[in-house]
Amino acid sequence: MTSQPFLTDIQTIRERARQHIENGAVTEGYRADRENVIRLLNEALATEIVCTLRYKRHQYMASGLSASVAADEFQEHAEQEQQHADWLAERIVQLGGEPNFSPEGLQTRAHAEYVAGETLRDMIKEDLIAERIAIDSYREIAAYFGEQDPTSRRIMEDILAQEEEHADDMQGLLEGLDALQRNDA
Ligand SMILES: [Fe+2]
Ligand SMILES: [Fe+2]
Repeated sequence: MTSQPFLTDIQTIRERARQHIENGAVTEGYRADRENVIRLLNEALATEIVCTLRYKRHQYMASGLSASVAADEFQEHAEQEQQHADWLAERIVQLGGEPNFSPEGLQTRAHAEYVAGETLRDMIKEDLIAERIAIDSYREIAAYFGEQDPTSRRIMEDILAQEEEHADDMQGLLEGLDALQRNDA
């Protein structure tokens, strides 16, 4: 009985690695539908850009005594959404695709929406909703990537974990705001 731990013997892997080296990180063993993966990563990228823009708007529009905590939170989230966009763009290039940063059709490609929001409460609520949209769509994308593209899956899962933190932060702000308004009444 052989105790071969690999499904493919190393000689075959070595030979395959020498072929199509122009594909860089994309090897013969890559099992996912590459074009579909790139499309989904670009949709997530558009979502991150929209979320960055929305949080920046909210950061600068947050005014009033109770708003400085929110403004700091919006700023931190904007920076993290930007980081997510960078991770996604980097992965798209690794897969031989092109990251789509075009403002044209951005809202259509993105899953979450850009809502300006009038009051601080509106802004926080819209951010919470956008995070909840991102959470559900990213969870589905990660599951779809599954074992076919574990690196892209891991990136989506890392982002997902932060979106869950963001949603929790927004819910916390909303509760804080409601408590403040109750005390004022
Ligand atoms: Fe994000
Ligand atoms: Fe987020």
